[in-house]
Amino acid sequence: MDKQWQEIDLFAKQAIKEAGRKIIDSFDEVLKIQTKSNVNDLVTNMDKQIEKFFVEKIALEYPDHRVLGEEGYGDNVNDMKGTVWIIDPIDGTMNFVHQQRNFAVSIGIFHEGEGMLGYIYDVVADELYHAGKGNGAYLNDKKLPALNDVPLEEAIMSLNATWLVPNRKVDHEIFVSLVHRVRGTRSYGSAAIELAYIAAGRLDGYITMRLSPWDFAGGKVLIEEVGGLVTDLNGNELSMVNNSPVFAGNRAVHERVLNEYLKK
Ligand code: IPD
Ligand code: CA
Ligand code: CA
Repeated sequence: MDKQWQEIDLFAKQAIKEAGRKIIDSFDEVLKIQTKSNVNDLVTNMDKQIEKFFVEKIALEYPDHRVLGEEGYGDNVNDMKGTVWIIDPIDGTMNFVHQQRNFAVSIGIFHEGEGMLGYIYDVVADELYHAGKGNGAYLNDKKLPALNDVPLEEAIMSLNATWLVPNRKVDHEIFVSLVHRVRGTRSYGSAAIELAYIAAGRLDGYITMRLSPWDFAGGKVLIEEVGGLVTDLNGNELSMVNNSPVFAGNRAVHERVLNEYLKK
């Protein structure tokens, strides 16, 4: 990473830690909770406040960078020209509201469409996952090793129960047979945390039917730095400006699930 990117990296890390402190401080206050697309799609004053904090800070330091943020305080981003910060101020808002844990700040910084820097900050655990292109991925100060090949029979897959019962997006029977095959399943309720866990080797795969770029931008940079893959359900490259089903995993699990379940 050249000097310019090292500076952006330092700036991003400081901003993320500051955001984390603001979120922890908010635990003593009463949250204002609203709903968005449906009654279970929650947003709080903190989601908005944290996104605004990033947008304002980035505009001051890097006025030519653009921001694609979930809550809409950034720019109207339809392409990946120049430098774009893709930000989810709080990923796992339902967990944030109900549990005050298992949520994360997620940021991916892209340049001309290429993932340069990725961050997922599990605020309550104080675990900052971070990666720079060509520089490896880290959990706090510890370098994360390249991901191991794992047989499906020993894999832990992250899968939401929604996709195991009849639903409008996918034939649930595919996943029922996959669940029987793997060693275990988990679901944490934060796409960013599931992706960070794949990068850290705590999970071997994650499949979900609908994510937005801010849910997976940071995780994509992290996982690719340890040799894993983040694609759509056909193994194709994800768009960074549109919603998509997402399939992430270490290489072995990704290939086997793709060929034996998803492409069938
Ligand atoms: C959600 C979480 C959740 C995933 C949803 C996302 P939000 O993000 O990542 O785990 O299943 O699809 O929308 O709304 O909490 O930022
Ligand atoms: Ca999210
Ligand atoms: Ca969010």
